Amino acid sequence: MAKSAKETGSDDATSDKVEGCPRHVAIIMDGNGRWATQRGRPRLFGHHAGAKRVREIVESCPDFGVKYLTIFAFSTENWKRTQVEVAGLMSLFRRYITKETRHLQERGVRVRFIGDRVRLDSKLTKLMNELEEATADNSKVNLTIAINYGGRDEVARATQRLAQDVAAGKLDPESVDEETLPRYLDTYVLPDPDLVIRTSGEARISNFLLWQSAYAEYEFIDTLWPDFTRAEFGELCASYGNRDRRFGGVKR
Ligand code: FPP
Repeated sequence: MAKSAKETGSDDATSDKVEGCPRHVAIIMDGNGRWATQRGRPRLFGHHAGAKRVREIVESCPDFGVKYLTIFAFSTENWKRTQVEVAGLMSLFRRYITKETRHLQERGVRVRFIGDRVRLDSKLTKLMNELEEATADNSKVNLTIAINYGGRDEVARATQRLAQDVAAGKLDPESVDEETLPRYLDTYVLPDPDLVIRTSGEARISNFLLWQSAYAEYEFIDTLWPDFTRAEFGELCASYGNRDRRFGGVKR
């Protein structure tokens, strides 16, 4: 069944825009493996360094007018990695949640997770649910962490639920339009991203927020994720303010 923002207690997405700032930034945190390899260390060393960066970037959001931050932590394709790396990442997510809960609370961060939880370990999903519940009243920053997330998978799951509503007579197929499908997406309470950043020099979007980023601005930067700083984040947010977003229209 589709959810409305009201049902889920989301923020009023139109009331929190700071002029010239990206309200919603989405980040593909790439380059942890190369960062570790450059130092002769195992890939997981890079992921641990990457997790530390997350704290600094989340903390800096209010300074740059960023109300929503969505980060790509594990894709539906990342299961193809070695069992050691996958298990290490899952353990890192559990550790991150356990260690960061207090700090996130103190900073007024509301945490949400997107992605298909079915394949995730029950210990991890329990922690995810608890963190979502514990931070549900916070509203300073909205942090969304994508775990076992893929844009195509998300659209497929959304379409399945939409089709179920049609079959149950709850939705008229004739009424389905561009506003209908987003209500079935994992991101139904979030505004679309204004700015998508990918670190590590790769210029592709790798199945991240495919529907939601239709009109996002993109920044592909060479910095490897564990080297990404608050200063660089600030520069990218400031340069977003100079972009001319026309959404297919003409400048007025
Ligand atoms: C891509 O770099 C990164 C990932 C698949 C994992 C992202 C995870 C983190 C940044 C750390 C944990 C996050 C949280 C929320 C605790 P890569 O491994 O593909 O790097 P490479 O392209 O250099 O090999």
